[in-house]
Amino acid sequence: MLARVFSGAILGVDAFQVEVEVDMARGLPNFATVGLAEGAVRESRVRVESALKNSGLEFPQKRITVNLAPADVRKSGSAFDLPIALGLVAAGEGIPDERLARTLVLGELGLAGEVRRVPGALAMALLAQQQALEEVICPVECAAEAAVVESLRVIPVRTFREVVDHLTGALPLQPCPPPAAPLQGGGLMPLDFCHVRGQASAKRALEVAAAGGHNLLMVGPPGSGKTMLARRLPTILPPMTFAESVEVSKIHSIAGLLRAGAGLLAARPFRAPHHTVSDAGLVGGGGIPRPGEVTLAHRGVLFLDELPEFRKHVLEVLRQPLEDHLVTIARAQTTITFPASFMLVAAMNPCPCGNLGDPRHACTCSSGAILRYRERLSGPLLDRIDIQVEVPAVACGELVKAGPCEGSEEIRARVLRARERQRGRFEPTAASACNAHLGPAQVERCCKLGAPEQALLEMAVRRLGFSARGFDRILKVARTAADLEGAPDIRAEHLAEAIQYRSLDRPIQA
Ligand SMILES: Nc1ncnc2c1ncn2[C@@H]1O[C@H](COP(=O)(O)OP(=O)(O)O)[C@@H](O)[C@H]1O
Ligand SMILES: [Mg+2]
Repeated sequence: MLARVFSGAILGVDAFQVEVEVDMARGLPNFATVGLAEGAVRESRVRVESALKNSGLEFPQKRITVNLAPADVRKSGSAFDLPIALGLVAAGEGIPDERLARTLVLGELGLAGEVRRVPGALAMALLAQQQALEEVICPVECAAEAAVVESLRVIPVRTFREVVDHLTGALPLQPCPPPAAPLQGGGLMPLDFCHVRGQASAKRALEVAAAGGHNLLMVGPPGSGKTMLARRLPTILPPMTFAESVEVSKIHSIAGLLRAGAGLLAARPFRAPHHTVSDAGLVGGGGIPRPGEVTLAHRGVLFLDELPEFRKHVLEVLRQPLEDHLVTIARAQTTITFPASFMLVAAMNPCPCGNLGDPRHACTCSSGAILRYRERLSGPLLDRIDIQVEVPAVACGELVKAGPCEGSEEIRARVLRARERQRGRFEPTAASACNAHLGPAQVERCCKLGAPEQALLEMAVRRLGFSARGFDRILKVARTAADLEGAPDIRAEHLAEAIQYRSLDRPIQA
């Protein structure tokens, strides 16, 4: 007596199909799991046995073998509880095979027979669609995310008994309707740029960064509003497309970060890992690799506050995602690729005490200490940050001055227009089409300079000593400044603004 139930497991940010085969034979009662099951999967038996008994069903006193195929990929998690329990009932000929052949099943079981939430339901539903299955049976908390996938019946379940009654036809359940507004927190935007007083030049720098997808570093004393500004960056980035929203929600679902019962994420992610974060926490890792912060920030913002406090090595591992917009993690059998296309926003104090350049407080740092502090940022990392901007402390007068202040929506409208102008420079199929991602050939083509602009740039390079990479960065940022204005050519003022955004490449004026 053999039963087969379809389920799925997560590898990277996608689900792959797992066939749960349950064989029951006569012999001494036994329960064995084969097929590279790890941790929680091996403990399944205990939960399945209790759940069956407490659902008024019998746990067969037979020789039971559970095989998870393909057998050569390691599987973890508790999402196989429900398929295994169903397999047991089906092997006892309780459920028709053809019913199971069209259905993907996932869920953890509680001892009382309740079906519990598991991560990755959206990825599983996408898998079911790909495999042309008709139905997904999943815990009720995961139904909203799974129901986003078209052409699938998503059946939300609360208890194991409900699943059995549904599949036998005794008490069929209604599919979860596709969510009318599939987006979590859509239209809700508590953060807004209008809350930030003053800081005109920092706001401008963020606008340029958003318009061209440029990485950004803010340098300023504590309390000047750097964190406040960074948190508001997602509110001026273009809204996510539906496809982006699915992509991002899938990742957050796998990481167990999606709110229960809610659909897709609407707002771009904003991730702010602490400076004590490990390499694995930042770029992903583990036996069965899990996404790290750079992947959770995919299509959104990765904010590194107190940048020089991060361990040097952590900054080195950021180089691959910053260059390639993905992370590869090698394991003995496979290499897993995680998407990691994000905007990097970093913040730091100008010196260890934080007061350098502040007219109201004297800086107590020696120039040696300042130098050591800044040297913690590797040159190659700084080279990948297009825009460096100083965020000075706001004068008290400016903080209390009430007056009209531009909100995020207005800024976003300009950003969107600038992005539209950039689109033509890229292949129509390009995943991202913003100036920050222009290749060297495209820079040559799209960032042509007239003679006076050429002269200005040459002088800046001679006087300030930029690296070759820094040089291209300036051109791209200047291109974005021109796009924001709707100017077809880069003019001197655009270049001057871009050059001004390389302040850390200059010697320190203590
Ligand atoms: N420009 C500003 N406008 C309004 N409030 C500000 C401004 N700058 C700082 N604040 C206030 O000071 C607090 C600390 O700012 P924060 O962004 O954490 O500074 P930083 O990250 O530079 O240390 C904010 O929560 C906010 O209440
Ligand atoms: Mg801060």
